[in-house]
Amino acid sequence: MEYKNILVSVENEIGILTINRPKVLNALNMETLREIQSGVQEIRENVTLRVLIITGAGEKAFVAGADIQEMSGMSSIEALDFSKLGHFTLKMIQDLDRPVIAAVNGFALGGGTEIALACDFIYASENARLGLPEATLGVFPGFGGTQRLPRLIGKGKAKEMIYTGKMVTAQEAFQMGIVNRVVAPASLMEETKKVAAQIAGNGPVGVKLAKMVVDSGFNMDLSEACSLESFAFGLSFSTQDQKEGMKAFLEKRKPNYRGR
Ligand code: CAA
Repeated sequence: MEYKNILVSVENEIGILTINRPKVLNALNMETLREIQSGVQEIRENVTLRVLIITGAGEKAFVAGADIQEMSGMSSIEALDFSKLGHFTLKMIQDLDRPVIAAVNGFALGGGTEIALACDFIYASENARLGLPEATLGVFPGFGGTQRLPRLIGKGKAKEMIYTGKMVTAQEAFQMGIVNRVVAPASLMEETKKVAAQIAGNGPVGVKLAKMVVDSGFNMDLSEACSLESFAFGLSFSTQDQKEGMKAFLEKRKPNYRGR
């Protein structure tokens, strides 16, 4: 499909969604958010894809936040609708039934950090800067930053980032547990694709169920979450992937997974 503000490409079993408004550092206006929804839906419908990578166009930014030009004139109700649009879009990313990796290649501010937080995990280039600067604009994060960041790094550190609006370097974000890995800018996509390929080589149903159990179990109490895990583990034994994975191990060969 053709889009104005994003690019969707496919490399082997990996989908790549690039937010593509480099003149405004890939800022998120309403049209871009709606296109991201369509792009994620396109990936969802392509059953051959095992992993999605989200990144930003150009060398400077992943996403420098929601589009301040567009937001500046919004009424309360329009801002509420805009926040809901952002939440709906990020939930589509979070709930994609395959892993989503954010390749943060520069500024990830406001809505940019929030998109990255909706992904399963984040790889960042050494020059990346992350932050939630909304308080410097007289508002506060509206695409899930007040909720996903505290769940990831704890309330105190998240509140410090939200109240100060200060950016952190990729290395600081790594130390805080926001980013899983920091790599040289020129190697970011290559390294992200490598881990995506490693995931794509594993049993797709097992990976899909693992994502579901981690995400659904996260806010349950431990015993309910462990029961959910047991049921999903049992379910994985009804799949051809389980038969193939274990058979291949016993026959000392590489498994040939089919995702069912
Ligand atoms: N919205 C709209 N346009 C933006 C933008 C944004 N979030 N971020 C950058 N741009 C535009 C700039 O206006 C500029 O456009 P012009 O060339 O037409 O002037 C262009 O992108 C390049 O930006 P700069 O000249 O500012 O580049 P810089 O290198 O000097 O600074 C920066 C880079 C530090 C990222 C700076 O652009 C910046 O601070 N951007 C805003 C970051 C921000 O506050 N994000 C949060 C937005 S609010 C939000 O996201 C709410 C939410 O939770 C949903």
